[in-house]
Amino acid sequence: MSDVVDAIRIIGISGSLRKSSLNTSLIKLLKEKAAPEILMDVVTLDHMPFYNEDSDKAPQIPTVEEFRNRIAISDGVLIATPEYNHRIPGVLKNALGWASRPHDNSCLKGKPVSIISSSPAFTGGVRAQYQLREALISMYAHLVMGPEVVLGGVNKKFVGDSYSDDNGLEFVLCSLHMLREEIRLRRSTTA
Ligand code: FNR
Repeated sequence: MSDVVDAIRIIGISGSLRKSSLNTSLIKLLKEKAAPEILMDVVTLDHMPFYNEDSDKAPQIPTVEEFRNRIAISDGVLIATPEYNHRIPGVLKNALGWASRPHDNSCLKGKPVSIISSSPAFTGGVRAQYQLREALISMYAHLVMGPEVVLGGVNKKFVGDSYSDDNGLEFVLCSLHMLREEIRLRRSTTA
């Protein structure tokens, strides 16, 4: 019982809407590997409306309200994103736009966030990763520091739902472990 209460609860966000998305597969694989110590709530961005400041007022759009609440009640966030034309996909940028408001009191302010980028290319989406870091800094998210988890050639590593590269998987798990340690540290200092 106390294990469940003490479990670390994070949100996993994929930057891709694609049904067979490799980034979504990574998030789901990490969810499986992390349980039961870390419980991951996988959030999809399929139904997020386009950000429009005119609509960003009470009463909140239900999809947006739910998205913000799920982030707000989580201990941390893990984002796995592809790179589109050297940038983060528009759907992810759009969702972060919603999450970033109100600017001084957003659900991401001070929230520990870990990032993974992956791509079939050997560059592994590293340019998108840097853009994502900058965007998160602008909204005062707490970027979890450590090795940059960039995964190239990811299409060759998934065989169905299983991941064939054990060393690569250890590296990807780093992002989750760093996030866990940051959350534990916070818990110990606020206890
Ligand atoms: C891509 N892709 C891509 N890959 C990359 O490494 N750098 C890039 O700049 C781009 N640009 C890009 C633009 C657009 C419009 C598309 C559709 C694709 C390839 C991309 O990494 C590949 O399709 C991934 O498999 C997408 O991630 P998911 O959907 O598998 O998670």
